[in-house]
Amino acid sequence: MGKPVNIFVCQSCGSVHGKWAGRCDACGEWNTLVEEVPAQNSPKSSRRRRSRAIDFVSLDGETEEHPRLSTGIDELNRVTGGGFVPGSVLLIGGDPGIGKSTLLLQVAGFMAKCGQGGTLCKTAYISGEESTAQVKRRAKRLGLSNAPVSLAAETSLGPIIDGLLAEKPDVVIIDSIQTMWTDQLGAAPGTVAQVRACAQELTRYAKKSGAVMLLVGHVTKDGQIAGPRVVEHMVDAVLYFEGDRANQFRILRAHKNRFGPTDEIGVFEMGGQGLNEVANPSALFLDGREEAASGAAVFAGLEGTRPLLTEIQALVAPAAFGTPRRAVVGWDSGRLAMVLAVLEARCGINFGGKDVYLNVAGGLKIAEPAADLAVAAALISSIFDKPLPADCVVFGELSLSGDVRQASRSDARLKEAAKLGFKCAIATLNKQGETKNISSQLPILEINTLPDLITRVEAL
Ligand code: TYD
Ligand code: MG
Repeated sequence: MGKPVNIFVCQSCGSVHGKWAGRCDACGEWNTLVEEVPAQNSPKSSRRRRSRAIDFVSLDGETEEHPRLSTGIDELNRVTGGGFVPGSVLLIGGDPGIGKSTLLLQVAGFMAKCGQGGTLCKTAYISGEESTAQVKRRAKRLGLSNAPVSLAAETSLGPIIDGLLAEKPDVVIIDSIQTMWTDQLGAAPGTVAQVRACAQELTRYAKKSGAVMLLVGHVTKDGQIAGPRVVEHMVDAVLYFEGDRANQFRILRAHKNRFGPTDEIGVFEMGGQGLNEVANPSALFLDGREEAASGAAVFAGLEGTRPLLTEIQALVAPAAFGTPRRAVVGWDSGRLAMVLAVLEARCGINFGGKDVYLNVAGGLKIAEPAADLAVAAALISSIFDKPLPADCVVFGELSLSGDVRQASRSDARLKEAAKLGFKCAIATLNKQGETKNISSQLPILEINTLPDLITRVEAL
């Protein structure tokens, strides 16, 4: 029998085509045809074989906890939910040069030599992008030359799987999934079909062997892991490495995690000898803050279980051109439009002829609704040119009516602010139940509506 003819399947409607086309004839979607290897349809396999019936179990009863392998990096342990689970597959995405290879080489090194409390494991690092000499040079820079990591530079999947079967490592690092290719498909490396086939094959190996598989994934311009979304569905966890290359802070965030929480972040700092963990990120993000400048508000945020204080800076200036500009760094521009609209409609502040710039200091991206009030406070402070008290934190969610709602876990936020020497908080405590035990931590300048906030700022 000859080589099976590959088919092209539309990822949108599922229709099968004999040859590739830019547009699916069946549903009209563009760029959705993906090459696939058809299942061998020999007469033997097409006959329905009687197979073993599955066993059903009940939901209750004994289950075993997932054993965890400590990575030797506390921040990474936190993001993964306590370390790697054997047999799991993790995808680590991020912009080029952000530090993915550095982080993973550090993990491989620590685990191979049981450094920094990492579980002693046999680790393999397969680089499809750099030569072994380049990786060795990096290991030297990281002080990990003596770590017994099995290193290889290869992009062809067949030899990699054979090598892994012979070496039997506990932790495998593939840097990166976009450089891998399998000769099963005619498509070029990096194409959707290749990435998907390689990820599938490596996942199968991980599940079968019980090894932890760490796949590095490149991201596209709009910030998604290049290649098909199915890779994200296939793996157990997707971690993104974020940060500004101009800034030394790097944030590792879990977007999906089958074995742990998805809202935890790990904070790192890129130094001369690789990535260093940042145990107290609030102090770092507030470092170098100017005393009492107008337009700045300290937001007491929450990232997963960890409170995180950051400075939100706003600048409201007369618009130079007809259409005023709205520029946002580190926050959602739609959310800024909402806060501006609420300020206009409920407080009568006119932003019509003004440019508005908003920046979250330190390169952090904030997604919490509780930042609304801090943004509003920064905007009001800028427009009235009145600095907020330097020792005051702000948090609370805004509703469209101009009311302020209490943020979740106010106690944790206040505790962190008190720990860093803040003396008061602008917030609301209108949620029942939490009020009593909270007020003891830090004096609260209670505001219940946005006009309350304006009155407070005007009185400063
Ligand atoms: P890298 O891990 O190669 O990024 P990625 O794999 O995500 O593309 O990181 C490369 C950058 O990190 C590079 O610009 C140099 C910098 N770097 C340091 O500042 N210190 C170090 O110790 C190392 C190894 C890299
Ligand atoms: Mg790299």
